[in-house]
Amino acid sequence: MRTKIVAGNWKMNTTAADAHVLATGIRSGVEHIERIETIICPPSIWLGVLAHGVIQRGQYPHLHLGAQNMYFQETGAYTGEISPLMVKEVAKYVIVGHSERTHIFREDEELINHKVQAAFAHDITPILCVGEEEQSATSKETVIRELKKLIDGLELADVKKLVVAYEPVWAVGTGKAATPAYAEDVIVHLRTILPEETRVLYGGSVTEENARGFLALPDCDGFLIGGTSLKLKPFLTVCQYADDAAQAGGHRSLHN
Ligand code: 13P
Repeated sequence: MRTKIVAGNWKMNTTAADAHVLATGIRSGVEHIERIETIICPPSIWLGVLAHGVIQRGQYPHLHLGAQNMYFQETGAYTGEISPLMVKEVAKYVIVGHSERTHIFREDEELINHKVQAAFAHDITPILCVGEEEQSATSKETVIRELKKLIDGLELADVKKLVVAYEPVWAVGTGKAATPAYAEDVIVHLRTILPEETRVLYGGSVTEENARGFLALPDCDGFLIGGTSLKLKPFLTVCQYADDAAQAGGHRSLHN
């Protein structure tokens, strides 16, 4: 059985004080939510302070930190970047290939592939984002083509550990989430090239109102959440729903 994940991508939000308050609230709120993994991905500047303070690594086995991005080189003249060696000290996960990185910062598939490989080389688990720009009849084919390129050259053992986040670009930050049936259709297609163990998340306008629809899907293992992860109560509610779904056996069919 794949352990469900609820990951919060705070993007470029929070002051130091906000980050402390939000992370502390999440830590207390998920103390009894033990069937799932909760992941907090704050801006990288707060990773160290959270890792050494609020979320002491190892002390909360179901609560982890993730970086939102990293470069693939270990050290060197790469102004503004953080390396896998740095991320490894403070986080278990790293988001790679987010659509905001590809659109705003022009990251291409080759760079993202290097980042995924670098993450595994340093024992960091990548949360690899894929998703089509526009909803269309060929979305599934577009997304699977993208995933194939991004995981090219990976060992099977690493693909099993990989977390894929299916984030249709048109649903990110728009308030227009995919329907669960639409997401399931794409995720099932992605699973045709993934081993059983790989966890696949949905991301894009997830809220406490729509979360349960996705959690009922047999092939969706949780969420990568943006806006809702900045609001303590709704985020914790989604974590609770995921935990409930895990308790219920998780994988209920869409059809019953
Ligand atoms: P929203 O949940 O704000 O749509 O963002 C999704 C996302 O990009 C998570 O990485």
